[in-house]
Amino acid sequence: MDIQSIKKQFEEDLSKAVSKDDLVGLKVKYLGKKSEIYSALRSLGDLNPDERRAQGAELNRLRTEIESAIKDRGGELSSGEKGVKVDFTEPGKKFELGHKHPITQIYEELFEIGKSLGFSIAEGPEIEADWYSFEALNIPKDHPARDFADTFYISEEVNLRPHTSNTQIRYMERHKPPIRIIAYGRTYRKDSDVTHTPMFHQLEGLLVDDRVTFSDLKGVLTTFAQGIFGKDRKVRFRPHHFPFTEPSVEIDVSCGLCGGKGCRSCKYSGWLEILGAGMVHPNVLKNSGIDSKKYQGFAFGIGIERIAMLKYETDDLRLFFDNDLRFLEQF
Ligand code: DAH
Repeated sequence: MDIQSIKKQFEEDLSKAVSKDDLVGLKVKYLGKKSEIYSALRSLGDLNPDERRAQGAELNRLRTEIESAIKDRGGELSSGEKGVKVDFTEPGKKFELGHKHPITQIYEELFEIGKSLGFSIAEGPEIEADWYSFEALNIPKDHPARDFADTFYISEEVNLRPHTSNTQIRYMERHKPPIRIIAYGRTYRKDSDVTHTPMFHQLEGLLVDDRVTFSDLKGVLTTFAQGIFGKDRKVRFRPHHFPFTEPSVEIDVSCGLCGGKGCRSCKYSGWLEILGAGMVHPNVLKNSGIDSKKYQGFAFGIGIERIAMLKYETDDLRLFFDNDLRFLEQF
């Protein structure tokens, strides 16, 4: 009798056993009265004493191996069949629902305010020609914003737009007044610290018509500022300079933490700067093909991350782009 080939055959049969019945069959086949092992054990008596001892020991080892292999496989099968316990009182798996990124939420709030004032939404390219990023906006050749240290250049003539103001020119080129748009999108500057990321977002407003005055600018931008931060916040217009507007202003809202008394958050001024604006410079209208004698307008630019940081009181802007859900889930 060839013990090795019996063993091999058994192992093959065992690997195919998928039920208790299969295992009973295996037991009969390999250890039952008609099995080779059984008859070999029975005929041990015909051998001489030395052979009997050797053969007997081997056969018994094989028998116990087969027995315990069948038993183990039985254990595995029964744990698969009825061993899995389900506790119906356990809470179920939570399915997380995604939600809008805080930057998108701020944009949507601004769009709503804009739409309520009759503005429609426009877009412009992120890869832009020098003409639209700088030249047509009346930005002098030696202006620091044009520096290689500030703007990402693809070539001398092509850059990643440093602001959404490019869209003003592009829109005015193709549309006649009255114009009333808000443009939005990604902007790029070589800046990286707790309050700056190289890619950030802006919202640009442009209104051009005849008889547009600085009062219109004040009214519209007060509505925007209080729409974002609440009607209880005061709004202040502070003289400033931008090449593409004249006169220009920066707009502040009173600090929400101290109510304007002055605290660490507003650097003890009582005010938080939220956007830049002004009356569109006549050169900008001319560069876009609009008659600056007949039409006037105002424009404004808002940094979305800046608004998000002020509104949500976060002190590290970079967190908005790390995509750590523990941070983003809070908004
Ligand atoms: N483009 C300016 C910036 O990125 C923001 C700005 C200021 C836009 C005044 C305007 C404006 O349209 O009138 O800092």
